[in-house]
This record gives sequence, C-alpha cells and structure tokens, in this order.
Amino acid sequence: MKDTISFVATGDYLQTRRVPSYQEENFMKIRDIVKSADARITNLEISIVCNEGIPGAISGGTHVKTTPDRLDDLKEYGFNLVGTANNHAFDYNYEGLEATNCYLDRAGILHTGTGENLYEAGKPAFLDTIAGRVAFISVSVVSHLTHMATEQRHNIKGRPGINGLRHVRRHIISKEEMTVLKGIAEKTEINAFTQMAINEAFILPFPENILPFGNDQYGYPMLFEVGNKEGLVTETNEKDMKRIERLIDDSRRQADYVVVNFHAHEMKGVNKREAADFVKIAARRFIDAGAHAIIGHGPHTIRGIEIYNNKPIFHGLGNFIFQNETLDVLPQDFYDKHNIPNEYGVMQAMDMKTKGGTKGLLSIPEMMESILPTWTMRNGELEEITIYPIDLDYGKKRHQTGFPYISNNIGTLKRLQELSEPFGTKISIENGIGKIYCNSILKTSC
Ligand SMILES: [Fe+2]
Repeated sequence: MKDTISFVATGDYLQTRRVPSYQEENFMKIRDIVKSADARITNLEISIVCNEGIPGAISGGTHVKTTPDRLDDLKEYGFNLVGTANNHAFDYNYEGLEATNCYLDRAGILHTGTGENLYEAGKPAFLDTIAGRVAFISVSVVSHLTHMATEQRHNIKGRPGINGLRHVRRHIISKEEMTVLKGIAEKTEINAFTQMAINEAFILPFPENILPFGNDQYGYPMLFEVGNKEGLVTETNEKDMKRIERLIDDSRRQADYVVVNFHAHEMKGVNKREAADFVKIAARRFIDAGAHAIIGHGPHTIRGIEIYNNKPIFHGLGNFIFQNETLDVLPQDFYDKHNIPNEYGVMQAMDMKTKGGTKGLLSIPEMMESILPTWTMRNGELEEITIYPIDLDYGKKRHQTGFPYISNNIGTLKRLQELSEPFGTKISIENGIGKIYCNSILKTSC
C-alpha cells in the first residue's frame, strides 16, 4: 500500500461530440494528468441515452443528451469516479436518468448521485486503490423540488431522482416594508392558492413571523421576514443536511477517504464567482462530518479554493468539457420558450436563441477558462495541491469549442488567487501552474 493518495477532479463534463483522436497532443496531456492520480473524479452533467426518455418538463436549462459511446471517451480520459447529481439529471425524465445509470454500469464506471429512490441516489461508490479506499458521494442542491429522489416506504416505492440538498431562502425586510408587502399580497391575491391550501390542510401553515409571497422559479415559496439585517439569508434544509452528514459518517467507517461531489449553482447575490452562504456552510459541515475533500461545480465558472481543517474545498472548478450547443435535437419546449418557428432546424434554433452566438454561456470567455486540480493526502491530511489552468477554446465555432487543453492562461490562475484570498488560501504560480502547499517543512501556505 502507498501511504500517500493522489486525487484529480474536474468540473462539469458535458460532452456531445466524440473526442476526435486519442493520439492528439492536447488530449494526451490531460489524460496523462488524470491517469497519474489514484482517484479520478468528474461530474457527468448530461443524460446518456439511445432512445430512452422523453424531454423533462423541467430541464437543467437546455435539454442535453448524448449517446453511450461518449463514455468510451470518459474512460479514455481515465476517470474512475463519476457523480451524476446535478440539475441536468432530469433533462430526459426518469427514463433518461435510469438509462444514464444503466450505461455507466455497462461501461464499468463507478458512479453515484442519482437512483430509483433516495437511498440508491445517496449511497456511496467505493473505489479501491493501492493508496487506500475512497468513498464517493454525489450531492446536488435541488434545482427544482420535483428532481429530488424520495425515500422508500414499507408499502410504496420511493421516487427516482437526485441525492439532493434543499435550502431555505429568507428575505429580510423592515417592519414598514412588511406592512407594504402584506398590502400588495392582499391586493394582488398572490397568496390566494397558498392560503387556500393551508385552509384546506394540503400544506402546513407558515410560522407567524413569515410572509410567503408567491414561489420562485424552482418551486420554493418566497419567504419574507422582518429583521434588523435586511437582505437575503440562505440556510440548508436541516433534514437533508443531517441525512447527508450521516451518509458521510457511515461511509468513512469503511473507507480511508471520503470525497463529496457538490453541485451548486447558487450564488452570492448576482455574483456567480461566489457561492451562496448556505453552500459554503454545507461544504464545511460535510468536512466536519468526516469528508476529506469537497468538489464544487455548477456555475460553469471557477470559484475560490478554501482549506478547511486541512481539507480542500474546491468551491467551483468550472467546466471540463462544455458542448451544450452542439445537439442533435431540441424539444418543443425550447422552441416555445424562445419563440422559435417550428420549421427551424436545431442549429437555426440555437442561433436564434443565442442571437447568432453573442448570447449564452459559450459567448462568455470565463466559462471556457477552468482549472484541473490534483492533490495529495497522507493520513487523511492535505499535503499539496497542483492546479493546471485549462481552456476550452473560447471564441471558435460552436462545433470546434468545448474540449479542454492545458493552457498557459495565467489570467485564470490570477483570478483563482483573488477568489481564494477571502478564504486565506495562498496560491503561488510556478511555471504557469498553481501550487498550494500544506504540511510541508519548507512551505506552509495553509
Ligand atoms: Fe449544473
């Protein structure tokens, strides 16, 4: 057995086109880095289907799917642990979710994060390496309440879905503003159905100090409360947190390391580069419960790195492969949502939606500038992190962009330095590569 274990992790893996050649230099460089680690983690954010599944009513943004042969590429990159809990798990409904897991099983890839009920979605994948046993858990903040898997009961099945973490958003306002808001609620009848549901015992009443005010786009009620510190307060759902903490604690009892894959788009205000407060708090609590590393992704852009109790929290790794515009099909929902004539082809529709490629994630440079970190741990403690900047070919045509290569983009590492500074994390840049040293006699950045 080795006494030091190495990890590599990526952000979102959203691949729709085949890797053209395994002998191409850019591919080989990334593959060699990935394969040099013992545990090699990625976040699969696309449904893997042939003809299974119908378009989900609530997609992750765009309905994305691809065929099982793409998993050959994923394996060729070298990944051996795949998380599937994210907002795209329902793009092709329950059948798409089940088919994805089925094709991952057939390809012999360890995966977790979604399943036919909450137990199946939450149970860890265990990877046995010569450097130790790794338990891998995949969690996603619940993007829509219908995506959350539910528990089995003794007399009825649970519902398929993601291993989810729900959260509560409370909008804090002044006493005067509350009086005005109550008046608006009454005048506009925005809470009429909510009130009826309470009166008829379909839902529980809200606490006395809380005013519901409609629902947000994810199906959560919008909650307002009087308080001194006005603004938005986000908190984790305690029932979900305790369940996930128990999962971590249970899995650490039969593994040397526990890694949590954590998908969270939720941001601080309108700043995608910073995670919402409850996301940061949840990540630390996962470590407190026994996790050795947290792999964050979701906003498609990088966020800072935090070293908490000598364990790494990657708040956002950005994209690894990002090809959400080269699709074979788009459902009618897409045409309706963007007011696109039905006779338009898929790429004509995409051009209309993106205003000729000037709108959308592919048109934002930082969405195509990410990081690929590797790190080593010994006796459960972090030793060193190496951060490779990767580029995904921003600015090229949509069918030419989206595969990663190791870049010399110092700007990405400098941005990472800035984003990590509030956590007190010092990143040095050495020969175009980021470094964080811990537990070293010579260098003590942590
Ligand atoms: Fe996502």
